[in-house]
Amino acid sequence: MNNELKIPNHVAIIVDGNGRWAKEKGMTRSEGHLAGFENLRDLSDYIFSKGTKILSLYVFSTENFKRSKEEVSFLMNLFVSKFKAEIKHFNEKNVKVVFSGRHENLPAAVIKAEEELSDATKNNTGGVVNFCLNYGGRAEIVDATKKIIKDNIDSDEITEELFSKYLYQDLGDVDLLIRTSGEERLSNFLPWQLSYAEFYFPDTYFPDFKEKDFDKALEVYSSRDRRFGGIKNK
Ligand code: IPE
Ligand code: IPE
Ligand code: MG
Repeated sequence: MNNELKIPNHVAIIVDGNGRWAKEKGMTRSEGHLAGFENLRDLSDYIFSKGTKILSLYVFSTENFKRSKEEVSFLMNLFVSKFKAEIKHFNEKNVKVVFSGRHENLPAAVIKAEEELSDATKNNTGGVVNFCLNYGGRAEIVDATKKIIKDNIDSDEITEELFSKYLYQDLGDVDLLIRTSGEERLSNFLPWQLSYAEFYFPDTYFPDFKEKDFDKALEVYSSRDRRFGGIKNK
């Protein structure tokens, strides 16, 4: 195993297992989501402190609207209150917050809280948090295509680079994807940006995924040989 620790520039996390975490403890799913969000704050600080510059967080998929009205509405309220409450923290940490996803179907209060948070942090330069909320990877590709057509771009001009600029955010490729809870699937998360990412699937439920677990993810990431289609370099 290679001992040198490599730091991924762009980390993406599928925040999963809040519900099962709560169930095991005899708690409600809502309590699980609360615990997940509490953990997200400390974990994000830690990830940036390691040198990662971009953190994409899957917190609500377009498909999550299939859940009960109560759960969806609890999550929407949680987003509004956390986004408002965390403005100060993101500014102290010099982290810029952006959002990826559709506005369609989101309550107006969520859209407003997203706009306030992104606006209040837009000049920060220490790192970027990309909240993927009401996000779907196929929807992102469809939406980018629509914008390209609207802009009357000639087909000869369409390159991978140009296409990337039409995505919700142009943050570049993900280096390391982590999905907690033991599930090993993407569930429609960042298909374009994950093309060459390294995948890591710990069994831990998200509320229990702590600093030491991220250290382990970094160790695993560092041991991978990223070849990008080239030849083996070790
Ligand atoms: C992830 O936890 C949070 C969201 C999808 C918002 P889950 O709610 O999916 O938790 P499990 O998978 O049911 O345990
Ligand atoms: C994916 O998790 C979406 C988020 C974590 C926000 P899900 O829990 O919704 O995914 P599936 O249903 O297990 O694929
Ligand atoms: Mg889940």
